[in-house]
Amino acid sequence: MHELKIPSADGKRVFYAELRTQLAALLEGETDLIANTANMASLLYHALPDVNWAGFYFLKGGELVLGPFHGKPACVRIAMGKGVCGSAAAARKSVLVEDVHAFPGHIACDAASRSELVVPLVLGGELLGVLDLDSPLPGRFEEEDQAGCESLAVALLETLV
Ligand code: SME
Repeated sequence: MHELKIPSADGKRVFYAELRTQLAALLEGETDLIANTANMASLLYHALPDVNWAGFYFLKGGELVLGPFHGKPACVRIAMGKGVCGSAAAARKSVLVEDVHAFPGHIACDAASRSELVVPLVLGGELLGVLDLDSPLPGRFEEEDQAGCESLAVALLETLV
């Protein structure tokens, strides 16, 4: 049901547009944040090629706390400004890391991870948390992935309003 073909080099925009349609259908009529992020993590983990972790951290008490995810167990708490997730959260901007070994302060949850994309979740000016994707391939994520995942994050946020 949720399987998509691996996109060609120039097909990522189409791929993410189709994935957004699938996501919107999956989340339609449900406003629960935990349920929707759990289903979204599963969808992304299974639909995106070469991804070994897909999930969420939520801002709670001034730090990021682990939410629903697919992949190996991960660190539970990340301080704002720390690691890729904390950097994206503090800046409220997506962070795309081609080589996590070259990112100062990267927090290694799965030693297999080589590249990472983190998209902040901002609703009505309020930071809710971040979407985090890891890949065992260096340079797995490109600008098209960032734009696509930012669009998917908007689809998630639309279920909450
Ligand atoms: N690598 C992240 C930590 C979270 S895990 O990848 C799931 C970071 O540096 O913030």
